[in-house]
Amino acid sequence: MKDIITTICQFVTSSVGRKVIVALTGACLLLFLVGHLAGNMTIYGGLGGGNETSWINHYAQGLHAMPAWLLWAIRLGLLAVLLVHIGFTLVLKWENVNARTKYQKEGTLKATLASRTMVLTGVTIFCFMVFHLWQLTYNGDPANCYEHIVHAFINPWCSLFYIAAISCLFMHVRHGFQSVFQSIGLSTRKIRPIFDLAAIAFGLVICGGYISIPLAVLAGIIR
Ligand code: HEM
Repeated sequence: MKDIITTICQFVTSSVGRKVIVALTGACLLLFLVGHLAGNMTIYGGLGGGNETSWINHYAQGLHAMPAWLLWAIRLGLLAVLLVHIGFTLVLKWENVNARTKYQKEGTLKATLASRTMVLTGVTIFCFMVFHLWQLTYNGDPANCYEHIVHAFINPWCSLFYIAAISCLFMHVRHGFQSVFQSIGLSTRKIRPIFDLAAIAFGLVICGGYISIPLAVLAGIIR
């Protein structure tokens, strides 16, 4: 038992171990984004059939029909993953800044806009999430989920804020997606361009899907 704890401590305190933890927690968050988007896409279900409100409301009610302990276990698990992801990212960033003073030229040459703004986009997404949870989870009502979403996005400022935050999410997800494969050693020089393209495609599908909702409300397609 003592050996296992020592091995875990050594892994967590090593630079490679920290990168793997950031990558794995990032991958869990990416999976959440895919699942959440799939649920949100039910807002388009039934459009034009005179029953526009039903699909997403059924979906939201179904989520809340889960036993309370399971819902809270998932929420707390997700929160723990998010906090570990943020905590370890900040430690890595701190180590990076210290190392860069030594190898400054090398670092700035390789950095892309997305990689340089990871902390900034991460903080914006965090602020967005606080607002989003307050708006649609704390003040939401699963039976009227559709109406809440339309009511929120009919306000252009609210839609604009979502679109700006989700654009940050695109940059963050794009870089994060590439980094997951790099950190776990799957991205070699040869196949890196393929991962780069896959990261852009993944980010566009995910963020395009989310952004389509405020745009559809503003365009009157969802009303
Ligand atoms: C247009 C885009 C989005 C819409 C319409 C939307 C809609 C919703 C709704 C209706 C809920 C409440 C579900 C419920 O408890 O009944 C919710 C919860 C949540 N959303 Fe979103 N969402 C969007 C984008 C995002 C994004 C981009 C993120 C992450 C960066 C996110 C993260 C969350 C989280 C963490 C919850 C809490 C889940 C829970 O209740 O435990 N959402 N969202």
